Amino acid sequence: MITVITGASAGIGAAAATRLSALGHEVVLVGRDTTRLKAVAAGLSGPKAEVLTCDFTSLDDVRRLAEALRGRYERIDVLANNAGVLSKPRQVTGDGHELMFQVNHLAPFLLTHSLTDRLDRVVTTTSMAGNTGRLDPGDLSRERRRWNAWLQYGDTKQANMLFTQALATRGVHATCFHPGVIRTGFAGDTLLMRFYLAVPGVAKPPETGARTLVRLAASAGEPGRYYVKDKPARGRTDPGLAERLWAASLSAIGG
Ligand SMILES: NC(=O)c1ccc[n+]([C@@H]2O[C@H](COP(=O)([O-])OP(=O)(O)OC[C@H]3O[C@@H](n4cnc5c(N)ncnc54)[C@H](OP(=O)(O)O)[C@@H]3O)[C@@H](O)[C@H]2O)c1
Repeated sequence: MITVITGASAGIGAAAATRLSALGHEVVLVGRDTTRLKAVAAGLSGPKAEVLTCDFTSLDDVRRLAEALRGRYERIDVLANNAGVLSKPRQVTGDGHELMFQVNHLAPFLLTHSLTDRLDRVVTTTSMAGNTGRLDPGDLSRERRRWNAWLQYGDTKQANMLFTQALATRGVHATCFHPGVIRTGFAGDTLLMRFYLAVPGVAKPPETGARTLVRLAASAGEPGRYYVKDKPARGRTDPGLAERLWAASLSAIGG
């Protein structure tokens, strides 16, 4: 099994890579920093891992990653779109998109789109925050609405859910999941996350957050579905919105 994991340098992605490697997957670790990725690779117990760098704030870098993967692998069993970020200030990438929209949705959209003919399965790390998002395909970078980092994060995680449904509609075996509140580097500068981390027992270790990813990567699930703790759960579904997001995303990557 060839399994590509983005955001594999830390947290949930690193924990998932460790477990999948132990299960015999040949993992491809994707992240921004070679040193961090090699440190994860050195701790794996399974087949030799590959390390590829990519910064999702550059769409050209994502195109290069897709080409590198196409050059190496005829088939990819699993693409785990796991990299994600919460940015308190509103930042705009060199491509002109709000940073969270690009890193959390547009970059994985482009990567998946560039590899669809080689992929057997896509698993995306979303969040329960996606259920309360108010995604607007006409304002994906939140230029016209009030800036609030958690609201924008929720929109991007709703995009993960809707993208999963749109992929399934197109015959791609795609699922997504909420990992739980997990003790990682994620959102560590926000009051909400600091609160969760301070209350004993609330934040779980990365291995717990990786469990559903590992399960969906190893044994699939129902295409288009959202999972929590290994079980199908109620995620945001809206076929019309999913199609409008798809069209807006295609246009944003110049497709
Ligand atoms: N932790 C939670 O409680 C929680 C809850 C719900 C959902 N999630 C989701 O879980 C996923 C994994 O997050 P985590 O909790 O494991 O956080 P983390 O420890 O901060 O890991 C985030 C990963 O994303 C990568 N990443 C960040 N910005 C990137 C960029 N510009 N280009 C490429 N890669 C980038 C990081 O790579 P670098 O090493 O290069 O920074 C890192 O490998 C995210 O999608 C997050 O939204 C987390």
